[in-house]
Formats: sequence, structure tokens, C-alpha cells
Amino acid sequence: MFSDDPLSRRSLQRFINKNHVLYSWDYVKDTIRGALIYIPRRKNIRIYSIAVLPEYQKQGISKILIQALPNKKLVLECKDYTVPFYEHLGFSVLKTKRNYYKNGEMAYFMEREKL
Ligand SMILES: CC(C)(COP(=O)(O)OP(=O)(O)OC[C@H]1O[C@@H](n2cnc3c(N)ncnc32)[C@H](O)[C@@H]1OP(=O)(O)O)[C@@H](O)C(=O)NCCC(=O)NCCS
Repeated sequence: MFSDDPLSRRSLQRFINKNHVLYSWDYVKDTIRGALIYIPRRKNIRIYSIAVLPEYQKQGISKILIQALPNKKLVLECKDYTVPFYEHLGFSVLKTKRNYYKNGEMAYFMEREKL
């Protein structure tokens, strides 16, 4: 699911062990629909990654996963193609960094204040 993310199985297991993963589960098909990985910090929560399987996209699953996070300031970094999605959910771009990702892509640092 996190195909665009260099997350190793070991790192993913660590997030799961710490309970830092939220899931949406399809109980009818007995399969995962989407997941959000986060890192709780003192002042904010960093959304590390979010992904929804293609067949479940555009059904509000990401929105529900983000709403399920504790009500704190949310921060994240992402590539250009997800900026409109996060802007739609109330995030703003704080700054950008060129050549941030391995393939030279720019990173967008975004945040949303506590609601
Ligand atoms: C981006 C992604 C996580 C969105 O998940 P999703 O479950 O389809 O999103 P939702 O259905 O919850 O959409 C929430 C809102 O954002 C809007 N939205 C969804 N994708 C959008 C996009 N690409 N651009 C702008 N708005 C978007 C929806 O219309 C919806 O708006 P509404 O609440 O007014 O109806 C999903 O497409 C995905 O997994 N993509 C591949 C992985 C990825 O890019 N992850 C993010 C980088 S870590």
C-alpha cells in the first residue's frame, strides 16, 4: 500500500508495535482499505504516511483517518502531487525544500493548526 514510500518492513513493524498506525478495515472483504502512520510529539503530530488502496479511494477514508488523530497541530512533508489533497483538508504549505527526496523531487512542508 505504501508503494511510494521507502518504509522498510522493520520500520513499519516498529510503528505498529508502538500503536502509531490507524487502519480502516473492510470487514465484508476482510481486507485493509487504508492506513495512516503517525508520530506523536509534544507540540504536534507528524503524519508520516497515509495511503488508501485504489479501489477505496475518494470515499472519505483518508479524511476519517486524519479526523481520528488526537486534536493537535498536524505537520507533514509530501511531494507536489499530494499538496492539493492536503490543502483541501485545511493544511497550508509552510516551506519547500528542493532535491529533498532521493529522485530529486521537492518536498512540501505542510501543517494544520489544532481544530
Ligand atoms: C491521497 C490519498 C491518501 C487520498 O485518500 P482518499 O481516501 O481517496 O481521500 P478522501 O476520499 O478521504 O478525500 C478527502 C477529501 O479530499 C479530496 N481529495 C482527495 N484526493 C484529492 C486530490 N488528489 N486533490 C484534491 N482533493 C482531493 C476529496 O474530494 C475529499 O473532499 P471532500 O471531503 O470535500 O469530499 C489516496 O489517493 C492515496 O492513497 N494515494 C496514494 C498514496 C499517496 O499519495 N499518499 C499520500 C502521500 S504520503
